[in-house]
Amino acid sequence: MKSKLNVVILAAGAGKRMHSSLPKVLHVLAGKPLLAHVIALAERLSPESICVVVGHGGEQVKEAFSETNLIWVEQKPQLGTGHAVLQARPYLNQDGKTLILYGDVPLVSPESLQSLINAASDDALGILTATLDDPFGYGRIVRDEKTNAICGIVEQKDADTQQQAIQEINTGIMIAPNAFLHKWLPKLESNNAQQEYYLTDIVKMAVDQNVPVTSASATDQWEILGVNSRTQLAGLERIFQRNYAEKLLENGVMLIDPNRTDVRGELTCGQDVEIDVNCVFEGTVTLGNNVKVNANCILKNVTVLEKTIIHPFSHIENAKIGANCRIGPYARIRPETQLSDHVHIGNFVEVKKSRIASGSKINHLSYIGDSLIGQKVNIGAGTITCNYDGAFKHQTIIEDNVFVGSDTQLVAPVKVSQGTTIGAGSTITKDTPENELTLSRSKQISISGWKRPSKTT
Ligand code: UD1
Ligand code: MG
Repeated sequence: MKSKLNVVILAAGAGKRMHSSLPKVLHVLAGKPLLAHVIALAERLSPESICVVVGHGGEQVKEAFSETNLIWVEQKPQLGTGHAVLQARPYLNQDGKTLILYGDVPLVSPESLQSLINAASDDALGILTATLDDPFGYGRIVRDEKTNAICGIVEQKDADTQQQAIQEINTGIMIAPNAFLHKWLPKLESNNAQQEYYLTDIVKMAVDQNVPVTSASATDQWEILGVNSRTQLAGLERIFQRNYAEKLLENGVMLIDPNRTDVRGELTCGQDVEIDVNCVFEGTVTLGNNVKVNANCILKNVTVLEKTIIHPFSHIENAKIGANCRIGPYARIRPETQLSDHVHIGNFVEVKKSRIASGSKINHLSYIGDSLIGQKVNIGAGTITCNYDGAFKHQTIIEDNVFVGSDTQLVAPVKVSQGTTIGAGSTITKDTPENELTLSRSKQISISGWKRPSKTT
């Protein structure tokens, strides 16, 4: 039978080496706080409870999470990892097990955690270990020479030269039966080099009481890496992105350079999608079959239907883009925009909170905001919807088959009826009649004999 599981996430550390006013676990990896990655990992195990131990910047950390299923525990002052888990003890079941995770170790895979859970039988202590070329700084796993059984963990600062040579290290991730934790945690002492209550001392207690100590190793070495500095955070970001890119490639997405693709959320792609270099995908982005995203585009919470091409340097946020559209280069599509199929949005065009029906084109230098645009509309270069009167936003309606000449201002609220042609350079303040040419323009005159001013020396 599967035993009950509590998870405790340690996140009270100061993170001094980040040199930041932001608590360490709120620093962002792939678009979300480090702690959010660890909480998501814990949630995949469907535990009975998730307890987060916070200290430095605790209030700020709590505020950053809206999940209601989390138990927040304050640890003040921070007297070590054993002291941290002790603060969570009142929330641990009497039976079942507790898994300890670190809020600043965000890349552990669910598979490695599962192998740790499987390795530790119901009454055993389990430790996730790793073997490193350079084990400096980590707690070392001390094994019995004859039986190879784990007999203790010794911290770097407490280790003698022989122990310092051990390459198997404690990742910090552990699973322990609750019945033992309730007994052991209050008995931890701080008589060590750092005068801290080490969680790792429970290993010796287990050995003394003949409780089996088992271990599992992480599938990949990078899984166990923690964040103590911005250099390490940047390193982990690259590992995360490289892993994500490899999964995309394996699923058939053509990334021109997997080292220059950033996904800060979730990217779902159809077949034969091609993504050029330096694109950033944030939030939830879905690209349909044969979509092509050219270099240097930013897409945030966007759905793009099949065969659409997004040309370089386009920025699209909270929008739905239809099939067979052509966007950019240098297009900006802002929230609440919906483009139907075969729509063209060209260079230096900004579209906000507008719906554009199929086959319509806005190819150059325009601002379209709060607008409803029908089918097969052509909007000339330099057209502006004047949607804001200084206090309120107003709507512009452009019906099917309208042709708007270049350099037109449409002063909202205004309706351009179907089939209208607007002469270039017009300022339209009144609704237009259907199928007629409407223009507002002063007459062109020429003054004969006029001379351009010139400087006299
Ligand atoms: C700890 C382990 C060490 C292991 C290493 C892996 C102990 C005694 N040592 O050492 O064996 O190799 O992690 O990275 O457990 N924390 C609190 N409250 C505290 C102290 C720490 O919440 O009072 C949290 C930190 O925020 C961090 C985690 O616990 O997330 C580990 O703390 P850290 O100070 O980095 O422990 P290490 O000395 O590196
Ligand atoms: Mg550490």
